[in-house]
Amino acid sequence: MSGLATPLPLPCGRVLPNRLMKSALSEGLATADHAPDERLVRLYRRWGAGGFGLIVTGNVMIDRTQLGEPGNVVIEDDRDLAALTRWAKAAQDGGTPIWMQLNHPGRQANPLATRQRPVAPSALAAGIPGLPVPRALTDAEIRDLIHRFATAARIAEAAGFDGVQIHAAHGYLVSQFLSPLANQRTDDWGGDAQRRARFLLEVVRAVRSSVQPGFAVAVKLNSADFQRGGFTEDESRAVIEQLAGEQLDLIEISGGSYESPAMMGRAQTVSARTAAREAYFLEYADTVRTLAASVPLAVTGGFRSRAAMSDAIDSGVCDVVGLGRPSTVRPAAATDLLAGGIDVLRPPLISLGLRGRLARSSALRAVDGALDLQWHTDQLHRLGAGLDPDPARSPWSTAVTMLRRNGFDAFRSRRGAVGGDRGSTKFRIDKFRVERAIGRYLVNPGFAALDRIGVRSTFATELETIGRKSGQPRRVPVSVRFDDEGAWIICQHGMRSGWGNNVRANPAVRLRQNGRWRAATAELRPDDDVVARARAFAPHPALAPLTAAGFAALQTDPISVRVTFTDAPPSAGA
Ligand SMILES: Cc1cc2nc3c(=O)[nH]c(=O)nc-3n(C[C@H](O)[C@H](O)[C@H](O)COP(=O)(O)O)c2cc1C
Repeated sequence: MSGLATPLPLPCGRVLPNRLMKSALSEGLATADHAPDERLVRLYRRWGAGGFGLIVTGNVMIDRTQLGEPGNVVIEDDRDLAALTRWAKAAQDGGTPIWMQLNHPGRQANPLATRQRPVAPSALAAGIPGLPVPRALTDAEIRDLIHRFATAARIAEAAGFDGVQIHAAHGYLVSQFLSPLANQRTDDWGGDAQRRARFLLEVVRAVRSSVQPGFAVAVKLNSADFQRGGFTEDESRAVIEQLAGEQLDLIEISGGSYESPAMMGRAQTVSARTAAREAYFLEYADTVRTLAASVPLAVTGGFRSRAAMSDAIDSGVCDVVGLGRPSTVRPAAATDLLAGGIDVLRPPLISLGLRGRLARSSALRAVDGALDLQWHTDQLHRLGAGLDPDPARSPWSTAVTMLRRNGFDAFRSRRGAVGGDRGSTKFRIDKFRVERAIGRYLVNPGFAALDRIGVRSTFATELETIGRKSGQPRRVPVSVRFDDEGAWIICQHGMRSGWGNNVRANPAVRLRQNGRWRAATAELRPDDDVVARARAFAPHPALAPLTAAGFAALQTDPISVRVTFTDAPPSAGA
């Protein structure tokens, strides 16, 4: 057996039983008050018995007003100490040490979960459509956040966790401080690489001094942000050199952010050498091995075969191999690899399987990325419910669940932010592109496919209005629900709609019913309950929530439109 099974003594004196780490995976399983409950205990019992040398929890937030996603655990004080203790023990009962990952989302705060304006080093929004512009932190607030990291670490130790990991990767607050794109401060917290690194170093020092020397303290750091003008590999190396001088027990290497998700293997380009070694950040790790001095290194992202993992350890490039997605469908992945004779973990590749031009669309790539995250989160929720993982779960089922739950917002990065500066031109243009892509490539082909197998929807027909400027007839495809006197239509873009405004200017319209054009008048009904109306459009009651979500997904301000026929009804049998 290779070095994978060899224990690893840490600088704090603790020993990891082997080199396989379950990396942080946000569970979204906290209670409404952001405390852990039985679901997290069940999930971590599975992983605790899975043979890992180390388990890192999903990110735990340090401020309940600023969350990365719904269902985050939050630690601000010791009110949930008993529940946190049960959580730690669940993993340790299986013989595995557990570290808590501590995080603050900064400008990646998720508005589905966060009602307050996000805060960040500078008032600069991330390049994710719809992200609000954050407020720049004051010096006093920065110091308060450092204190919060330290408080959370102290409580994690009191609850029996074996260590904490500070999340300084993936575009969250600490990595925002490191990034020249996100941090444009000119005070002691920004201005040059040295000052941009100060927040991380002060958090590390505050955390270290709030816990016992035998408690492990670690950092998850980006090799780079994979963004033009962002945190580079050279800057990252300089940060590692500084971290080597702190009392750290592990530096985990990852990369990217939810704007450029390299950590999920979704970087634009991958060198042949990286592809051969599976893991995305090994080449970089090779270059920092000596800089990290006596601090052990972990690399996470892309590891799937025992051969590649063993090679990474045996060659000395890193000391620990991190596994993320494979551990959701194989909670005992470490035992399987070390003792169970499994050579390769083959988690399903989660993607809508789009090809050609579709695969190159950035909007649809974002949908794919969000789906990848959500599909794996769904597996965690199964484990939390006491079920087994379901590797055969269709990505489309996850897509439907996301739509039903959150509508359009679901398809922006769940772990990035959503909602936001809806008034901005950029937001509207981006949103329009996504809507158009979803309509063109998902919704319309979907209904066409249903039609082909005989599931008729009342949706697809055409409406003719009189152009308010041209005076000429204008035909648009519309979704319609007919009744005896006329029809209901959802005007997807409300008052922004071209045909909606035509109707306001001239209510005389024609509507195609069963291939025949009917004369009618149309009236915008902004007071109608458009969501309830949309539900009534479902071809089958079971599809009603999906239909409503579909409409919610496609528009910002939809309005119901009542169409009343003014001609004689077609004779029976016509
Ligand atoms: C559902 C999901 C949730 C994640 N949550 C976190 C998190 O809370 N903190 C973190 O540092 N990384 C998080 N990650 C990233 C993983 O830790 C890991 O870096 C990534 O999945 C790449 O490793 P893999 O190829 O083995 O999956 C998450 C990834 C997934 C799929």
